[in-house]
Amino acid sequence: MCSCEEPRRGWGRCAPSPMLLLSLLLSAAPLGLRGEDARQVSLEVIPDPTGPPENLLHIRAVGSNSTLHYVWSSLGPPAVVLVATNTSHSTLSVNWSCLLSPEPAGGLVVHPEDSVQFSSALVFTRLFEFDSTNTSDEAAEPPGKPYPPYSLAEWSWNNVTDSLDPATLSTTFRGHPIHDPIGAFANGSLAFRVQAFSGSGRPAQPPRLLHTADTCQLEVALVGAVPRGNRSLFRLEVATLGQGPDCPSLREHHSIDDEYAPAVFQLDQLLWGSLPSGFMQWRPVAFSQKQGGRESSLPCQVSPLYPTLAYLPQSPIVRAFFGSQNNFCAFNLTFGTSAGPGYWDQHYLSWSMLLGVGFPPMDALSPLVLGIMAVALGAPGLVLLAGGLFLLLGPKRYSEYQPIN
Ligand SMILES: *[C@@H]1O[C@H](CO)[C@@H](O)[C@H](O)[C@H]1NC(C)=O
Ligand SMILES: *[C@@H]1O[C@H](CO)[C@@H](O)[C@H](O)[C@H]1NC(C)=O
Ligand SMILES: *[C@@H]1O[C@H](CO)[C@@H](O)[C@H](O)[C@H]1NC(C)=O
Ligand SMILES: *[C@@H]1O[C@H](CO)[C@@H](O)[C@H](O)[C@H]1NC(C)=O
Ligand SMILES: *[C@@H]1O[C@H](CO)[C@@H](O)[C@H](O)[C@H]1NC(C)=O
Ligand SMILES: *[C@@H]1O[C@H](CO)[C@@H](O)[C@H](O)[C@H]1NC(C)=O
Ligand SMILES: *[C@@H]1O[C@H](CO)[C@@H](O)[C@H](O)[C@H]1NC(C)=O
Ligand SMILES: *[C@@H]1O[C@H](CO)[C@@H](O)[C@H](O)[C@H]1NC(C)=O
Repeated sequence: MCSCEEPRRGWGRCAPSPMLLLSLLLSAAPLGLRGEDARQVSLEVIPDPTGPPENLLHIRAVGSNSTLHYVWSSLGPPAVVLVATNTSHSTLSVNWSCLLSPEPAGGLVVHPEDSVQFSSALVFTRLFEFDSTNTSDEAAEPPGKPYPPYSLAEWSWNNVTDSLDPATLSTTFRGHPIHDPIGAFANGSLAFRVQAFSGSGRPAQPPRLLHTADTCQLEVALVGAVPRGNRSLFRLEVATLGQGPDCPSLREHHSIDDEYAPAVFQLDQLLWGSLPSGFMQWRPVAFSQKQGGRESSLPCQVSPLYPTLAYLPQSPIVRAFFGSQNNFCAFNLTFGTSAGPGYWDQHYLSWSMLLGVGFPPMDALSPLVLGIMAVALGAPGLVLLAGGLFLLLGPKRYSEYQPIN
């Protein structure tokens, strides 16, 4: 990236500046992954003209030189297919008879096919529940007595058209198990609230993740379901498609700033390739109350990613777009510890993440923290400065050589 034509001048001259590095990275990045400041976003629930209605949500985010397609569906387990293209004209076509057939490959296509710069998918496969009553070790695995898991492929979901809100570019997939012998979900649900953005900003609710027009937010909320244990912990299993043979990589970013997410100094990221590529980003925190705050925050632990061959349950939309590709990787997100707070407080649990392409949004230090730093670094600086001035300008009492008799 940096060729030294005249080595004698020293390497300092040819060390690329961060701006140069960034511009080199950007010029090397495929057009569809460069990111754009603003996009024209539309949400459409695509109907099946012949069969029974199914939830298939298409979010199309058009920029000047690129289009992002997010296809969310509760056909099978809840899943999203993410496709980035290098043109503002790409479109999604759905062949329902193919999508609903046992061989759905080709049922979802983005045209023109050679405009696709990046594509991947997430599948939310299972919800686990553990009773942590007798668990004192917070790192114990499993974190408590396991109950039979809920397979999200065998759930029934509401009509997303009913909650579609063009003003906030959002909608909610709300579901409950089809077979629920003890009626745990009689008054409860698991909700996937999906929101797209036409520009950058930050929601009012913690963890207040910084979003851009290149991202889509998912909030997962478990509300009102009767837990099977007295101190139930929940775990969500997520499967994704790797790019090539390797699993996406997990990265943790640390910061001294918790202005937007109190007491959380970490940002976790799943990256599908070297940047810019696709990413999933979240703060390792969940909330046990709707008004998320420090008192109701619980840790969200992520497990390592493992390749899983022929992952079950399969998502029809993922197979429709990717065919029989089977380089799936999966991981678990575990919410809370036996120490609490927990779901048992208010029968409420929520967690959010961003999904996007390009460079993941990064918080700059917040004005508050910059102010605190200026004061903290400034005070000793002022003392030093005052001391220096005193020595220079003060009475020269000790400065003269005084011979000792
Ligand atoms: C959702 O509701 C709309 C109208 O409100 C209807 O046209 C569509 O068929 C329904 N879809 C499902 C999945 O029930
Ligand atoms: C889009 O492409 C045009 C022509 O190649 C270029 O001038 C413009 O800067 C690009 N816009 C963005 C947002 O990348
Ligand atoms: C849709 O898929 C079916 C096979 O499932 C195929 O016979 C049909 O031609 C396809 N329709 C279009 C418009 O491509
Ligand atoms: C989009 O990318 C393809 C290759 O992936 C390339 O052939 C095509 O020229 C690109 N289009 C634009 C508008 O950059
Ligand atoms: C916790 O331990 C007590 C006493 O050993 C036992 O009776 C109870 O079933 C245990 N509960 C769970 C959830 O493991
Ligand atoms: C669900 O709510 C109804 C009415 O509020 C109540 O009668 C019923 O006991 C609740 N069921 C469960 C399982 O909590
Ligand atoms: C929950 O706690 C109550 C009272 O402490 C106890 O009677 C009950 O057996 C416990 N339930 C489970 C599932 O551990
Ligand atoms: C997630 O956790 C469950 C329960 O502990 C386990 O059976 C499953 O294999 C885990 N999945 C992954 C991908 O680690």
